Order: sequence, then C-alpha cells, then structure tokens
Amino acid sequence: MASAWWPCLALALFSSLAASFGPRRIPRLGLVDGIEVYSTKINSKVTSRFAHNVITTRAVNHAEEAKEIFFDAELPKTGFITNFTLTIDGVTYPGNIKEKEVAKKQYEKAVSQGKTAGLVKASGRKLEKFTVSVNVAAGSKVTFELTYEELLKRNKGKYEMYLKIQPKQLVKHFEIDVHIFEPQGISTLDAEASFITNDLLGSALTKSFSGQKGHVSFKPSLDQQRSCPTCTDSLLNGDFTVTYDVNRESPGDVQIVNGYFVHFFAPQGLPVVPKNVVFVIDVSGSMSGRKIQQTRDALLKILEDVKKDDYLNFILFSGYVTTWKDQLVQATPENLQEAKTFVKSIRDQGSTNINDALLRAIHMLNKAQEEHRVPERSTSIIIMLTDGDANTGESRPEKIRENVRNAIEGKFSLYNLGFGRNLDYSFLESMALENQGLARRIYEDSDADLQLQGFYEEVANPLLTSVKVEYPDNAIQDLTQNSYQHFYDGSEIVVAGRLVDEDMNNFKADALSDLVYTKEVDVKEAEKALKEQDYIFGNFIERLWAYLTIEQLLEKRKNAQSEEKENLTAQALDLSLKYHFVTPLTSMVVTKPEDNENQMAFADKPGEDAEGKPSQHPARSATPSTAYQVRYQPPQNPYYYVDGDPHFIIQVPEKDDAICFNIDEDPGTVLSLIQDPVTGLSVNGQIIGDKRDSSNSNTRKTYFGKLGITNAQMDFRIEVTTEKITLWNGVVPTTLSWLDTVTVTQDGLSVTINRKKNMVISFGRGVTFVVVLHRVWKKHDFLGFYVVDSHRMSAQTHGLLGQFFHPFDFEVSDVHPGSDPTKPDAIMVVKNHQLTVTRGSQKDYRKDTSVGMKVNCWFVHNNGEGLIDGVHTDYIVSNLL
Ligand SMILES: *[C@@H]1O[C@H](CO)[C@@H](O)[C@H](O)[C@H]1NC(C)=O
Ligand SMILES: *[C@@H]1O[C@H](CO)[C@@H](O)[C@H](O)[C@H]1NC(C)=O
Repeated sequence: MASAWWPCLALALFSSLAASFGPRRIPRLGLVDGIEVYSTKINSKVTSRFAHNVITTRAVNHAEEAKEIFFDAELPKTGFITNFTLTIDGVTYPGNIKEKEVAKKQYEKAVSQGKTAGLVKASGRKLEKFTVSVNVAAGSKVTFELTYEELLKRNKGKYEMYLKIQPKQLVKHFEIDVHIFEPQGISTLDAEASFITNDLLGSALTKSFSGQKGHVSFKPSLDQQRSCPTCTDSLLNGDFTVTYDVNRESPGDVQIVNGYFVHFFAPQGLPVVPKNVVFVIDVSGSMSGRKIQQTRDALLKILEDVKKDDYLNFILFSGYVTTWKDQLVQATPENLQEAKTFVKSIRDQGSTNINDALLRAIHMLNKAQEEHRVPERSTSIIIMLTDGDANTGESRPEKIRENVRNAIEGKFSLYNLGFGRNLDYSFLESMALENQGLARRIYEDSDADLQLQGFYEEVANPLLTSVKVEYPDNAIQDLTQNSYQHFYDGSEIVVAGRLVDEDMNNFKADALSDLVYTKEVDVKEAEKALKEQDYIFGNFIERLWAYLTIEQLLEKRKNAQSEEKENLTAQALDLSLKYHFVTPLTSMVVTKPEDNENQMAFADKPGEDAEGKPSQHPARSATPSTAYQVRYQPPQNPYYYVDGDPHFIIQVPEKDDAICFNIDEDPGTVLSLIQDPVTGLSVNGQIIGDKRDSSNSNTRKTYFGKLGITNAQMDFRIEVTTEKITLWNGVVPTTLSWLDTVTVTQDGLSVTINRKKNMVISFGRGVTFVVVLHRVWKKHDFLGFYVVDSHRMSAQTHGLLGQFFHPFDFEVSDVHPGSDPTKPDAIMVVKNHQLTVTRGSQKDYRKDTSVGMKVNCWFVHNNGEGLIDGVHTDYIVSNLL
C-alpha cells in the first residue's frame, strides 16, 4: 500500500471514505452554473469486514451551452478502485484495468492529441482524491459510477467506515445506504454525521441491527439538506461515520466461500503484556517551536497511560545523544513524576544523529534483558520520533538500516514516527518494517500531540506476542501473512487462503503464542453460514484474499531487492489485473465503446510515498504522484467554416488538426460553398471589398458580404446580408432584421437570429449552419459562415467547403523554418499532390464575434491550389440564389 497508514501488523486502523460531488462554485439558487446534480447515492455492502462501495451521481446540464461537470470523491488510501463508468446520454463508457505503463502511454498519446488533460490533486491524511470532469452538451445527462473495495480493520474495538460528504448543492435524491452482514453477529452499530446532531437529522437517519445484519440509511429530504429553512445551500458538509463490532465468543472465526477461507482471530479477556519502551526523541533544531511543544505535551499524556509493570527510558538526540536514565526503569509513581519533570525540560538543539540514538536504545534494551532487569514475560519496543534526515554521525540511510537490523536481530519492534513532511519517509518505513514494527506519519498540525498519543494507545496494550497462525500444509495454500509480532487489544488478526481440496470436510487452525488456540473448522458448516446470504456479493472471500495478498506483496516489495522485487511486482500485478483492482501497479482507463485507442480518461492510484515528499526539497518533489485524476472530453462534430478575408478552415478530426486556405477574388464575385444534389441544399457567398479598395490583389482585403442559402426540395431560400435577412418560402418573402432576436420554425426547418450576433439555421437534425455577423462600421460589416453539423448531407456534396465533408487524409512531413521565423513550413501530401504549406492560425468567432478562438491550421497557398478539386475559378457561380 502506498500509505503510511498501512500497518504490517494486524492493527485495526481507521478507514475512511469521502465523497463530494458537483460543480465547484458555491450554489446560490440550487442550480450551480446551470448544472443540476439531481441524484447522489452511496451504496455500501459490507460482508465479513469486506466493503464494496458504489457511488453513483447523476447530473443534467440545464445551461444553453456545453458545460464541464465535475465529480470528486475522496477515497480511503487503503481502498482499491475496482470500476468506474461514465454514462453520457445513455452511452456508457466503461473502465478497464491495465498495467500502469501501458495505460500511461496511451494516456499520454491522448493528452498530446489534446483529447484529455489534467493535473494531480494533493491528498489528505487518509484520503486520496478522485476527480473527473466531463464536458456535457446542453440538455445532456451524465451518470458517474465509481466502485471501490476495502477491508475494514479493527481498531480500538471497532470497525469504522468513514464517508466525507460534500454535495455543494441541494440534491433531490441524496442517499447513503449501508448494509452489513457479519456471520459472527453484530454486537454494536452506530452512525453519525459531523455536520449535524442526530436529533436534528430526525427521520433522515435510520440505523438498526439484529443478529447478523445491520442497516444504516441516511436520506435527507431537500428541506433537511438546507442550511437554514430559507437557504438554498446545503448543510451536508463533513464526515459521515458508521462504526460497528461483532460478537467474539470464540477466539476466532473461519468463513469459507467457493474454496477460499478467511480467519479472523481476536481472543478476548487476556491480560496486557508488560512493555519495555525506549522513546527516542529528535530534539534537533528543526523541532523547535510548536513541534517540540507538541512532543512534550504528547509525552506527558503518554506518561499518564504508562502502566506500573512497564519499564521505560528516554533518549534525546540531536548532533549527540543524551539519555534520561542510564538504563530502563520501572514505571513507579516516583519514576513517572521524575519523567514528567524531565519531559518538561526537553529543549531543541543542533543537528540530527539518528544512528547513534537508535544504537543506544537497542543496546539499552538488550542489556536490560540480559541482566534480567525487566520481566521475563514482557515485550520490548522502541518508539522513535524524528522530523528530519540523519545529517550527523552515520548519515547514509542504507548503513543506518544495516546497523539497526544487525543490532536488533529480530528481538524487538521498532516504530518510526515521521513528524511533518521534511523527511525521507520511505527510509523510516523500510527500517521499521524490517524490524517487526511500522512507521506512521505525524502531520504537522494543531492536533499533532493527539496523533502521537493516538498512536501510543494503539500499541500500548499488546495482549499476545509472536503470534503465528498455522494450518495443515496439505489442506491450505496461498496463505496471506500468518505471523505477527503483536496482537493488540481492540485489533484483530486476519489470515486468508485457499483450500487445496474444495471437498475436504474439515481442517485445524492453530494460533500459537504463549498460549495455543486450536480451532476445528467444519468446512460445510462454515460455507453454509454464508451461502444463504448471496444477496451481498458472491465471491467476496476470494476478493478479500486477493486484496490482502496484493497489499502484502506491495508492502514486501518495498524492502525487496532486484530479482525478488521483480517477482513480487509480477505477482501483485497479475492479481491486480485478474481481480480488477487499481493499485500502484495498474491504472483504470475509460474508453469509448469499441475504441481502445482513444481512451478518454485515466485513473491512477498514487505511488509508493504518496504524500511524503516535501515541497521545500526540490530534489525530492520530482515525483508528485498523489491522486487520481480523470478528465474526459467527448468527441465533437468536425467543423468547416469561412470567415475573415475569406479564410476557409477545414477541420480534420482524424488528424486532430485543420487545414486553411484563402480565396482571392474581385468584389462582386459569387462563390459556391456547398452544393448537394441529393438533399438539394446549396450555399453561395458573394465577396465584398474593404474600404482601401485596391486593384492590387496582394494587399486587397475581401470578405463575404452576402450569403444565399437554398433548399430546392423545400422550395426555400434565405438571403443574408450584413443589414437584413430575407426568407422565401415559395415566392412569399419575409424580412427580418439583425436587430431581432427571433426563432422561425417550419417543417423541420429552424432559423434563429441572435440580435446583432449570429443566426443558426437547421434543416432538421443533421444539418446546421451558423452565420456570424461582424460589425465593423457601416458599409464594412461582413459575414462568417460555419457548418457545425453536416452529417446528413450526401457523399456527393461539393463546393469550396462541401467537398471536405467526406473523410479525407493528408500527411505532413519535413517541418522546417519558413520565411516567417514564427511560422514553419512543411510538405503536405494531399489528394495525390505534394504542397508546401505554412503553419498558421485563424480565428473561430462562433462564441464571441469580437475576440474569437484561435484555431491552428496548415495554410495552403495560391487559392487552395492542390487541395481543392480543380482550380478556384471553377467555383465561381453567376447568382447568389
Ligand atoms: C463496471 O460497472 C458497470 C456499470 O455498473 C458494469 O456494467 C460492469 O460490469 C462493471 N465492470 C466490472 C468489471 O465489474
Ligand atoms: C516467484 O516466487 C515464487 C515463490 O517463491 C516462485 O514460485 C516463482 O517461480 C517465482 N517467479 C519468478 C518469475 O521468479
């Protein structure tokens, strides 16, 4: 696992999920930016601690134009995404799991083609952020469905599922629905929301449990979501937490489905094993200020929890190492009092010598054991807290690890706490993992003292040491980790595996420590307990096994070298692909149906040290792989248009590029733009000159001043000039002005004038033109003509624009500097001609007639010679209509 929060011991850790949805702006009127999120459902099914969560959000774009809709969800770092689908207007784009490198290459290709883009978001303490944005057309609906799975871990006596809720607008159907099934029986269940008291939530929140089943439902009405009775913003903003525990009458429970088993081991009623603890505390200069203060506060609190059978000592290190006592002392009231006085006196100073401090602590613990100063039945641990890297004495991380490993010799546990971001966390983690311990990050924040204390509470009460759960070799294979240094109060040891023979009747499970717990497992009976519950999800124990196996392989991989590392990586990758998990080795790609090349979106689990790399250290911040990011841009209709001095722009979607050319003719000339003999549609344009009317065609600027659009089948004509619009239906003319805002519809034809801006002409579905009015000054206004949908026009369509409506191909090569240093030339092969073209750009004025959007294109010289069929004079016609 990527996370600092993943323990190698079977510690029950907090698990969490957060989800927030919707567009990013603060809602004022329910709708945000025209986007309505009308449904959000979080559906969780938990069986035997394994949670399968589906987040479904539906939104509609009520705006009159395409909008970007965002979907954010914060997921627990310990969870694996297993599925993500986008559904846009009924078309589903499924997610597939691929090996990371393969997926990344495809994604990069898509990015380079401008199909998709995006940056990574920072993640919180326990969460990873998943972000998707989709560009959705006016009136369109989109559904996001995200699925992830997670094994809930027991910590301090309960399993906890944590959902962060932040819908950002009132949602008509908002619902959290959690179904829990636990074969051992549920003993407690609770749910609460941080943003409001349960009393106020009233009927919105229901929770119940009975026997093996538990249910939590949170379904606030629109009124219950309002932050005040007349408000339109949502009070749903914060944490929603479900906690539960199960009955534990026997020391363990074994559950079996389809040949896979899971064993939950958590014996009750054991006395706490006394601890011998050495606190190794960094007091170097960088700890000064709040950090050292918080450390002192936390240690004082921890001293209150130390039990009288425990032994302890403090080692402080900076450039050099000092100790409180020469050797471990028992936690008598007098010694604790003295320890508190000592802790209060801790001051920061100097540099950081981790090596000598740890070796001193190890020596002290070894000596205490050799000299029988500590109880025979006790466990020894070192808790080291540091906020920086070793820089004094031995400072090579590899060498420190080797020294510490050789000194500990597997005899006790080292816990490393990394305070803040300014350190090499993976070094601390590796060193802890190879010494039966674990590492934890302490976030530099106002609650850092509570984090320290919380960590101590987790490890303060070992009930068993050196636990090993054994099964007969001939009965069980593919076991997950089955030996642990400690079993802590309030936690649980989980082991999963596969039966060698699915038809076997029984096998024996032995948990060995100071005590031996033996469990006879009756396979048929264990299966029966779950068979009746197929309403949850079928092969979940197999998935639970795969989840644990992958996590443990990834964990082991952190400390493995060369060949072994490759082997572990290969195994983890195989399982991730087989079971559809997004892990640090795989990615989720979202593709258009039947189009594996053009992937649209990409979800990537954060890498190894997801958040540790400090931004102050440029050398270390080079790999900021912190979060999921998905962005999706749907394909758009290709466009063809002519605007300006008549500049013709032809988009070629297959190339994700455009070609452009000019036609230079005398004012008064009429050119054929579109001519379709099948649909009877034709469009012609008449050229006008600008005020510096010149006979020199090199400097002369010309534009389209009049357009004639004819539909012979419908006996319909439109003449558009810069002053007015005349429609003929048959012989009867209707005149409209550019000062109108009006829509005329008839027999599938629709003409809309947007005052002084543009007009939209549609001939049913499949043919839409836009005419843009450029208002310069009187007598010098001109028109632009845009084909935004042409897919209903026939393959025989011709004209300066129409001939390009059918797919065609071109190749560009040999890009080289041209006469203008900012515009390279290149060789283009198109329609069997080889042309010299120049990179340039034109403007697209559909959205904004004054500014325009830049469109890059390859400019074909000499009136489009070689690109257009024939020569440009072939397109001159006698009449506009
Ligand atoms: C992913 O979710 C979609 C939509 O619910 C579903 O059709 C598909 O089968 C799921 N894929 C997997 C691998 O579960
Ligand atoms: C990886 O390790 C497993 C278990 O030790 C072994 O069975 C397998 O052959 C190894 N695979 C490779 C590719 O080395």
